[in-house]
Amino acid sequence: MKSLIVANWKCNPETLKEAEILIASVKRGIKGIKNTEVIVCPPFLYFLSPGFQMPGFKLGAQNCFWEQKGPYTGEISPGQLKNLGCSYVIVGHSERRAYLGETDAKANKKLKAALEQKLNPILCVGETEKQRKLGTTENVLKRQVLSALKGISAAKAALITVAYEPVWAIGTGNACGFEEAKEASRLIRKVIAGLYGKELADEIRIVYGGSVNGKNAAGYIKKSLVQGLLVGGASLDPKEFIKIVKSVFAQNSD
Ligand code: PGA
Repeated sequence: MKSLIVANWKCNPETLKEAEILIASVKRGIKGIKNTEVIVCPPFLYFLSPGFQMPGFKLGAQNCFWEQKGPYTGEISPGQLKNLGCSYVIVGHSERRAYLGETDAKANKKLKAALEQKLNPILCVGETEKQRKLGTTENVLKRQVLSALKGISAAKAALITVAYEPVWAIGTGNACGFEEAKEASRLIRKVIAGLYGKELADEIRIVYGGSVNGKNAAGYIKKSLVQGLLVGGASLDPKEFIKIVKSVFAQNSD
């Protein structure tokens, strides 16, 4: 299975010019990378700029709405994303859960709407620091995965990637230990196997996100047995991001 590296630019950069410069360096840096799939998720506003519309380049969105069209001021639908050449969409990111009222139920509706358009959703799950300290990590992950996948057929679920992103590790520099990430990804796979069977669960990619950098990236692929990484802060620094991609590529070529 190819590793997936997702660059989540979040609400950055501030200008289209900066976005063009950043994407140009990323594209230069990842030339020749074969066994690793790189997806860049810039703010929606930059999607139409030529730098993001190159053939072969994989564009992802950071969010989508759960309806395909209609009177929903300010929302962007999965169909609209698809029509702009977008192939992936992040759903249920913890920042949206914390600041924008994203719930498990909303994540479920968004997944269904994205799958209707054959987009590849990246479902984010992860416990907060408090939940980890209380020992409820397992229950939180189970609940998030089960609620998000409710009513989704096996055929459609095959398109989903699950990102384990412990909230305490996001943007803090306090990356999750390889062993903890491995335990979480095992648990997530077990929950998916309970829903759809082991064969399908083994095909679903599970990626890790939270303070990934050039130094720790390959370790997650090797030791945590995840099939990719979701990179926030480090994806805004082209040198660091390319270092991440190359280290994963090297790890996969071993
Ligand atoms: P980070 O963000 O790499 O800056 O920790 C990861 C994410 O939020 O997806």
